[in-house]
Amino acid sequence: MSDTITPTKTIELRVLRYRPASDDEPVFESFMVPYTDDMSVLQALQTIKDTQDGTLSFRWSCRMAICGSCGMMVNGEPMLACNTFVRDLPGGVATVEPLQNFPIERDLVVSVGDFVKKIESIYPFIIPKVEKRIEDGAYLQTPAQMAAYESFSDCINCMLCYAACPQFGANPDFIGPGAMAMLQRYNSDSRDGGKQLRLDQIHGEDGVWSCTAVGICSDVCPKSVDPANAVNQNKTNSALDFFLHAVRSGAPS
Ligand code: FES
Repeated sequence: MSDTITPTKTIELRVLRYRPASDDEPVFESFMVPYTDDMSVLQALQTIKDTQDGTLSFRWSCRMAICGSCGMMVNGEPMLACNTFVRDLPGGVATVEPLQNFPIERDLVVSVGDFVKKIESIYPFIIPKVEKRIEDGAYLQTPAQMAAYESFSDCINCMLCYAACPQFGANPDFIGPGAMAMLQRYNSDSRDGGKQLRLDQIHGEDGVWSCTAVGICSDVCPKSVDPANAVNQNKTNSALDFFLHAVRSGAPS
């Protein structure tokens, strides 16, 4: 029988545990998990929860790299657990930890409140240039206009880019790559008229200029969104906006 059906191999998963009610600090706990070649890290964690320790906590929903909720550190790298196969982890042992740079709520679950506030701060919705009545029909776009923002719209808010970003690790107030990608998604949309509103969010000390251009945010993105590109475009937009503001301020009336 194929080993894709019956587990014939076992991996040791060293999972960081933190249960606030009983633990003073996070500690690693090892679990031996039989696996098949088609088993993801998320499925391995579910196997642990079902057969060894029902208190193990982690987030997941879609199991297909869409919802963005299963981000965690696997062997020290930010990854989606549902999109990472156990067979690809070398050496028969792997570490699984919560996303770094975020406060741990419990085991592999991190606090997302600050991230949500950052996303909310950039007005993550279309602010129509011209309001239309429903009877006036849809806001139409050409394929080229859609292509201008489409890749940024693939972001699934998994926060892997924040876990990888050294600048966010050093300064949690930095608005970060995911919010920049989301901001660029809407600022690049031909139907949107909220660009100035969003630009005002990125000029400040913790805005786009805090980025030190490491670029690892794009390396770890599971959807190839390229948030580093969004950050660079916003540096250009921010500089241009500053320049135009200076010109207008100094222009004779
Ligand atoms: Fe939805 Fe992994 S469970 S992205």
